[in-house]
Order: sequence, then C-alpha cells, then structure tokens
Amino acid sequence: MKITEYISGLRENIHLAREQGKIIVLIPTMGHLHYGHLSMVENARKDDGDREKVYIIMSIFVNPLQFGENEDFDRYPRNLVRDSRLAQEAGVDMLFVPSVQEMYPDGQSLTTINVSRISEILCGSKRPGHFQGVATIVNKLFNIVLPDIAYFGQKDYQQFIVINKMVKDLNILVQLIAFPTVREQDGLAMSSRNSYLSSEERQQAPIIYQSLREGAVLITEGETDPDVIITTIKDRISKGSKGKIEYVEVRNAHNLERFEKIEGTVVISLAVWFGSTRLIDNILLEA
Ligand code: PAJ
Repeated sequence: MKITEYISGLRENIHLAREQGKIIVLIPTMGHLHYGHLSMVENARKDDGDREKVYIIMSIFVNPLQFGENEDFDRYPRNLVRDSRLAQEAGVDMLFVPSVQEMYPDGQSLTTINVSRISEILCGSKRPGHFQGVATIVNKLFNIVLPDIAYFGQKDYQQFIVINKMVKDLNILVQLIAFPTVREQDGLAMSSRNSYLSSEERQQAPIIYQSLREGAVLITEGETDPDVIITTIKDRISKGSKGKIEYVEVRNAHNLERFEKIEGTVVISLAVWFGSTRLIDNILLEA
C-alpha cells in the first residue's frame, strides 16, 4: 500500500494505475477505521472477480467544512498508524491522507456545493452547513481522483442521497455504490463516534436499531400512518434508555419527502443523543 499526503502524488499514482487499465475505486472516510469502512474495501476487491483489476484509493480526512462550531472536529478520533495498518490489511492500494492545508490551501473555499432542500431536512436541519461541507469535499475528491466507482455507506443515508443528487445534477461520471450498514453483534451500527460512549451508554445504544426494526415490522404488517411509527419508536427509546431523541422520521427513500400515508420504498431515520454523543441510524424497507 502506498500512502501520500499530496494531491500531486496521488494523481501520479492514479495515472500509472489507469495506464495499467485498472478500475479506480474511491472510498472516502474520516478515519478511525472500523469494519464498516473496511468491508467496503473487501467488497470492492471481491466484486472485481480479478484482484489485479481494481485500484482502491481510500481517503482519510477529517473535513473541517462539515463540522459546526460546537461540534466534535477537535476531538474527532485520529490515529493514522492504526488506520494505515487496517487499510493495508483490508487491501487498500493507496491511502490519501491530506492535511487541511492541502485540501484548503487558501484557508477557505469560496466555492461550495449546495444540494438544496434535501440538505436542509433531517440531520441537515440540526446541522446547518453540514451537507454543504460534505458535498464540497466529496466533489473535490471526485475531481482529484476521477474515480470510476465510489463507495458510500447506507448508515449515512441522507449523505448518500445528497451525493447521489449532486452526481446527477452536475453530470459527474462516477458509479456510486450504497453499501449496507455494518453492525455490531447487538445491532448497533458501527461508527467512529461509538468510541465516545461510556459503558452504560454503549449498553443502551442497541435500542436504536431495535426500535427501528420494531417500526419496520409495523409497516410491513400494514401500518400506513407515519405518526404511529414515529411515536412507537420514540416511546421505545425514551422508556428503554437515557437517550435523548433529536428526531425520528419516516420518509420516501428516493426523495426524502414525508408521507401522508406510507407506501413504496421507505426509510426510517433517526438521531439520538447518548450523553454528548450523537448517533444516527436508519432502516430501509418496502411498505
Ligand atoms: P465517515 O463517517 O468516516 O464514513 C466514511 C464512509 O463509511 C461513509 O460513506 C459512511 O456512510 C460509511 N460508513 C460509516 N459507518 C458505516 C457502517 N457501519 N456500515 C457501512 N458503512 C459505513 O461519512 C463520512 O466519513 C464523511 O462525511 C465523508 C463522506 C468521508 C466526507 O467527509
């Protein structure tokens, strides 16, 4: 595995890989790698059928543009030694670990990408500017790498929808893969932020996925009223844990619009605070 901090070094290696006829795969992350990240790497290798054909680039960059002023940019876990070992073991070909200076040399990007409307709801309504920061950095990474394929997790479902819309609206030539959420054995979605949880919070956190599954079962059994689903999930979480609910929403999975009556492909999304840790999760299903 090669590792570089520099856009120029990355581009040189991509150029060589392309000359060898390789398919360029990009997996953007903010590091503190877990099996959710690493299984995307394994999947990119496996799906290829021919191990020699894909060139897998993973980026690790804690992007200041997507963090609000009072958010966890400073305390976000960073451990490059551990991450580069895990990335190499998983089969990454090139690890791109730019500094903030390398990505934002003028200190500030005057150009930003705003995917309106769908960036302002759900997580976006509580984290103003967040998805603008995400879309901007992902667009920069796409321009730097020009990947054939890019992987994103369903765990951050709204993020995937925002990036998908950006790609469509701006005619970016890349195939996006939405990778299913990888979970701990007790159902908690893997996340770099799980490391913030106290042992009591960690014990209670699986209630998030349990309540989502309960909501999903109600829908598959025929419940069409979003409020019934939302209330059931909220009750379950507030009675069974100390989690503070930020939002629970039932939405059309394609355009994130609300339902009067639930039908078609559905995403139930939520954000819950355990102490000072904000956890998000979702479940996708057919009504
Ligand atoms: P990060 O939270 O590090 O996640 C990197 C990628 O891994 C994202 O596409 C995310 O959805 C995916 N992922 C995280 N946890 C997962 C899990 N348990 N199962 C499957 N996939 C999972 O998301 C970001 O970083 C940033 O916003 C980024 C896209 C890198 C832009 O800065």
